Amino acid sequence: MAKRVAIIGAGPSGLAQLRAFQSAAEKGAEVPEVVCFEKQSNWGGLWNYTWRTGLDKYGEPVHGSMYRYLWSNGPKEGLEFADYSFEEHFGKQIASYPPRAVLFDYIEGRVKKAGVRDMIRFETVVRNVDFAEGKFTVKVKDLPNDREYSEEFDHVICASGHFSTPNVPEFEGFDTFKGRVLHAHDFRDALEFKDMDLLIIGTSYSAEDIGSQCWKYGAKSITVSHRTAPMGYKWPDNWQEVPLLTKVEGNTAHFKDGTTKDVDAILLCTGYIHHFPFMADDLRLRTANVLASDDLYKGVAWVDNPALFYLGMQDQWFTFNMFDAQAWWVRDAIMGRIEIPEKADRRADVDARKAAEAAIPDDYGCIWYQGDYTKELIDETDYPSFDVEGACQAFKAWKGHKVADIMTFRNNAYASVITGTMAPMHHTPWKDALDDSMDVYLQN
Ligand SMILES: Cc1cc2nc3c(=O)[nH]c(=O)nc-3n(C[C@H](O)[C@H](O)[C@H](O)COP(=O)(O)OP(=O)(O)OC[C@H]3O[C@@H](n4cnc5c(N)ncnc54)[C@H](O)[C@@H]3O)c2cc1C
Ligand SMILES: NC(=O)c1ccc[n+]([C@@H]2O[C@H](COP(=O)([O-])OP(=O)(O)OC[C@H]3O[C@@H](n4cnc5c(N)ncnc54)[C@H](OP(=O)(O)O)[C@@H]3O)[C@@H](O)[C@H]2O)c1
Repeated sequence: MAKRVAIIGAGPSGLAQLRAFQSAAEKGAEVPEVVCFEKQSNWGGLWNYTWRTGLDKYGEPVHGSMYRYLWSNGPKEGLEFADYSFEEHFGKQIASYPPRAVLFDYIEGRVKKAGVRDMIRFETVVRNVDFAEGKFTVKVKDLPNDREYSEEFDHVICASGHFSTPNVPEFEGFDTFKGRVLHAHDFRDALEFKDMDLLIIGTSYSAEDIGSQCWKYGAKSITVSHRTAPMGYKWPDNWQEVPLLTKVEGNTAHFKDGTTKDVDAILLCTGYIHHFPFMADDLRLRTANVLASDDLYKGVAWVDNPALFYLGMQDQWFTFNMFDAQAWWVRDAIMGRIEIPEKADRRADVDARKAAEAAIPDDYGCIWYQGDYTKELIDETDYPSFDVEGACQAFKAWKGHKVADIMTFRNNAYASVITGTMAPMHHTPWKDALDDSMDVYLQN
């Protein structure tokens, strides 16, 4: 009997896994029976935009954290699929920082071509995964039919993402603040904050990008409060960086250095937690948002039971191409093409990766660390090899462009590491491009 494999989630990671199995089948290999469970009604994961916040129409937590007008925060040359270039999809080379709808179209194009949609059970949420006597029992709920059922699998691949369950700290005075307090997970439209004085807590990508969006779409002022260190970019005149919020009194925010600012709304850009309520205690990944995740051999195989895999659980410089590298590797481990060593060696592998991460001096080191990891996995499979060094160089140039001017970095162009073609300059500077539709973006 063929092995049965369950994939949880049809976002970029789960879709990479489906494509990996399909590509082996296309080459004539006998592949396991694969079933992908996806709680949303369409694929694409976070890239499948929803206006909803809170609970969905079935009462399930809304997965989406993406918002209107979101453009890629890194160059597309750092994430291009090695088996499906942007030129193949769009019929031409496109500019380097595509808006969400353009990247969704690209992600979808590859899996439409692969013909894997039939392997996905949409609107089916995984409720419970446990393991006994060599088999996983996966309990799911068919949401439209309000019906739960269980099936057995030889392997489970958890690709449910980790930027959907918000980390929500509380500050004194939130309960009496006279404006809206929300987490980035629930942010949808910058126009809601037009003409407002906005306070943002956090200094990572959400803070930088949501602040920039709100600035672009007409917020009166942006104040960003940091716990560890300010971002330190050259911000516009109506943007300031301040130490951590201590309390809110009425509409007045107080900061650690004794300064205050009257604000209309507070946005918590305080990150996300890895949250897998559906995994049994002994199968549940518990890790921070780091490059070397806890308990995952080669970053993917559960140390205590390597029949279970997690995809895309690392902090992400590399995304789509790293998920591909992981998915091809996991496929080959499941198909017996790659041997997984004994537990002591798996544990040693995790320890070595963690020690190597601890020794990284700066962001550039992080980029190359993750580039090397991606390459390590690719070299062990038949995923098309590509110029990972070139992708690292694109990320390096991107960081330089951000330091030069945080509000113009998206106006730059880079060369594809898959086809070698230079991207065109975008027709409109990012700050003036208020229409982020695919039609308008592709007018180059
Ligand atoms: C606001 C924001 C902007 C980002 N922008 C960029 C960017 O510009 N460039 C970039 O490369 N990356 C970006 N990312 C990073 C993002 O993590 C990856 O691009 C990518 O979406 C991760 O893919 P994934 O499949 O691992 O997870 P996800 O995209 O989160 O997909 C997980 C899927 O699993 C499903 N799922 C979850 N739980 C269950 C369950 N119990 N049962 C069934 N299905 C389930 C979800 O519905 C979802 O479809 C961004 C992230 C955020 C939050
Ligand atoms: N346009 C885009 O493409 C785009 C836009 C937004 C997000 N993203 C993606 O989304 C992912 C998540 O990014 P993120 O910025 O949401 O999360 P993140 O990178 O995990 O950063 C979390 C931030 O919250 C701060 N924080 C956490 N707890 C706090 C507390 N109690 N008090 C004060 N500050 C606290 C952290 O500060 P410390 O430094 O002090 O720990 C950090 O600055 C990334 O992969 C990013 O690339 C992409």
